[in-house]
Amino acid sequence: MAQELTPAAADTIVVSLLNPSGAPAGAAHLVAKLDHLVHGLRVSGHLSELSADQVKNIIWALHDAGHLRSASPVAPEGVSPTYDQDGLISIHNADFLEEPRFVAAYARGIAAAGCDYNFRWRVHVGLWAASHASKLAGDFVECGVNRGFMSSAMMQYLDWNQLSRRFFLLDTFRGLDERFIADEEKAIGRSAASFGYAECFEEARKNFAEFHNVFLIRGPIPLTLPDVDSEQVCYLHLDMNCAPPEVAALEYFWEKLVPGAVVLLDDYGAPGHGFQKTSMDRVARERGQQILTLPTCQGLLIKE
Ligand SMILES: C[S@@+](CC[C@H](N)C(=O)[O-])C[C@H]1O[C@@H](n2cnc3c(N)ncnc32)[C@H](O)[C@@H]1O
Repeated sequence: MAQELTPAAADTIVVSLLNPSGAPAGAAHLVAKLDHLVHGLRVSGHLSELSADQVKNIIWALHDAGHLRSASPVAPEGVSPTYDQDGLISIHNADFLEEPRFVAAYARGIAAAGCDYNFRWRVHVGLWAASHASKLAGDFVECGVNRGFMSSAMMQYLDWNQLSRRFFLLDTFRGLDERFIADEEKAIGRSAASFGYAECFEEARKNFAEFHNVFLIRGPIPLTLPDVDSEQVCYLHLDMNCAPPEVAALEYFWEKLVPGAVVLLDDYGAPGHGFQKTSMDRVARERGQQILTLPTCQGLLIKE
């Protein structure tokens, strides 16, 4: 057993955990061995010899095995994480996950997209933003709609047909437009084919058919921005995975945003979206405002 208490032994166990070939009992045995190994390395003072990659592998192997829900590196001993998805692990209160109104709204989002993106805290933020906006005058706008996960969840949450509001939904409904991807983004591999977006206009149209006063505007932003027949906007959601159309939309709508209007930026702090973040920071800064970075990777701005 003493032979096992080396950092190198961690690799063997982790590889087995990531590629479980045996019966569940075999996996449980490996988990127990890993636990023993880490404990042994700790008490013998060798834990710090694990490389950064080994530590990452161990964490991901445990995560894959579902163990981080009960034993997370962010949680003090005896405290279980309350949330663990979409790059965010937290021990803080997440009671919203159980609220029937949230659960119904999230389920409506899944129905729209045809799958679960597992990003409940992001949707929680979006629903809060939409509720806030619904108390102001003005229209709702989303740039980057796809099949409508977030906006369908919001409309369900707000009981949209009772609100008498207008919702403008802008998208190519077929992915990014090469002409509106920045050179800085192309340099890191962003292209019209990125993220694998497929044609989805008909699906989106059917999805939103139950909601009143919804206007689907098809085509590339910025070219379609003048098609939004609105002078007052209380909610703006930008989710296009590239900077130029997001910058153009924020600049275009800025003067139309009513005081207190909410601007929600998806992927603002996400890895691989750095140029989006610095571009949006610049637009906000030029207007004397600052974007709040949320731990969900979203950015939030309230128009002053
Ligand atoms: C991340 S998805 C949007 C997801 C959506 N908000 C949801 O909740 O399901 C990004 C969308 O941005 C759209 N898009 C990217 N660049 C665009 C552009 N220049 N003009 C219009 N739509 C664009 C893509 O077609 C894609 O549907």
